[in-house]
Amino acid sequence: MELSISIPLSIREARREDADGIYQLYSSLSPEDLYMRFFSFHRVTRGEIEELVKGGDHVTLVAEEGGKIVGEATLYKDGEFSLVVDPRERGAGLGTKLVQELVRKAKEMGLREVRFYTLPDNMPMIRIGRRLGFKLTFEEDEVLGVLKLDHHS
Ligand SMILES: CC(C)(COP(=O)(O)OP(=O)(O)OC[C@H]1O[C@@H](n2cnc3c(N)ncnc32)[C@H](O)[C@@H]1OP(=O)(O)O)[C@@H](O)C(=O)NCCC(=O)NCCS
Repeated sequence: MELSISIPLSIREARREDADGIYQLYSSLSPEDLYMRFFSFHRVTRGEIEELVKGGDHVTLVAEEGGKIVGEATLYKDGEFSLVVDPRERGAGLGTKLVQELVRKAKEMGLREVRFYTLPDNMPMIRIGRRLGFKLTFEEDEVLGVLKLDHHS
């Protein structure tokens, strides 16, 4: 018999102490995943993570499960966002939850819209966009998702 133990998951703003956990998360990603997250092929440096957890022109959320960072999502003040989920935790709704939480943050920040760019074959991200009501524009080599924010709801 398989024992199923549920570990509580929390989504919260990143703190400086999360730098190691975020670094480990990025280290578990394939070059393709990193490309999807950053739109460029490079290994993420510690310096970039220090900038991420510092805030400033962006808000970074992390998903933490049993002390481990299993997801990260960053929203910039111009409304653009990007995210990544630990490959072992995908397909369980975490990506959707992170985007929902970013949308809530964006409303708090008074943004009028949020948007993401991704590749046309990134089905999970396209499905998240569809499910959450983003308007999707398909170009040959990228997809743009835009959600206008209603500040009355
Ligand atoms: C995109 C990403 C964050 C989604 O995370 P996730 O936790 O798997 O997301 P969810 O579990 O909420 O799934 C989202 C949708 O994709 C579907 N899905 C998940 N894995 C899939 C797969 N391999 N193929 C097709 N669909 C898939 C889910 O069924 C769900 O669709 P539904 O809402 O219609 O049921 C994750 O795949 C990832 O980190 N990818 C690499 C980085 C990236 O592409 N970031 C996006 C940059 S904008």
